[in-house]
Amino acid sequence: MIVKKDTDVHQSGLAPKLCRESRVFKTSRVFPNDVNNHDSLFGGKLMSAIDELASISAVRHCRYNVITASTDSVDFLRPILQSDSVCLESYVTWTGRTSMEVFVKVVSENLFSGERAIAATSFLTFVAVDEHGRPMVVPPVIPDSEEEKLLHESAQERAELRKKRRAGSKQLASQLSTRKYWE
Ligand SMILES: CC(C)(COP(=O)(O)OP(=O)(O)OC[C@H]1O[C@@H](n2cnc3c(N)ncnc32)[C@H](O)[C@@H]1OP(=O)(O)O)[C@@H](O)C(=O)NCCC(=O)NCCS
Repeated sequence: MIVKKDTDVHQSGLAPKLCRESRVFKTSRVFPNDVNNHDSLFGGKLMSAIDELASISAVRHCRYNVITASTDSVDFLRPILQSDSVCLESYVTWTGRTSMEVFVKVVSENLFSGERAIAATSFLTFVAVDEHGRPMVVPPVIPDSEEEKLLHESAQERAELRKKRRAGSKQLASQLSTRKYWE
């Protein structure tokens, strides 16, 4: 177990925080209004809940306003039904200079059998910003549990992929038209 001392200060000048200090949980039911035409939870609804929860983790970590820079993916691994509860868990897994990677795990639970399953996972990146929208340096994060360590150790690789993807998106955007299609 990691003991974080008040005197621990990173080269950023900011004291590190533990992953669990940014951990947030939210458990909900699936109501008839929340489902798609397959009677399972509507993907857009889940994505919105993921972004909301992850942003709370990011703010908890840095205590600044944050902005979503990217969502790597939302992998819907199995449908979430009306007989399920859905529990979202999020926490900061890795930090750059001004950016934070947040992992969100979605666990569905059949309320009648108690069977639990990982229904979706997602990685999002948030950037801490000041009141003028300028990126701000964030504290480093320290993993403690096995799962936190697993995600922390693989994060640098994901960050590199994001950099490449961002450059690719910018390149693509420079070739796209903003012309009004009806003109
Ligand atoms: C995200 C944003 C604040 C970055 O600002 P910027 O002036 O481009 O700043 P930088 O290029 O210095 O990037 C700042 C950090 O964000 C990271 N970043 C920027 N875009 C990113 C992306 N698409 N994916 C992952 N990380 C990203 C950079 O790697 C950098 O991280 P680091 O400081 O930890 O090394 C800016 O691009 C922005 O405002 N985008 C729109 C965000 C938005 O509107 N979100 C809501 C969506 S509805």
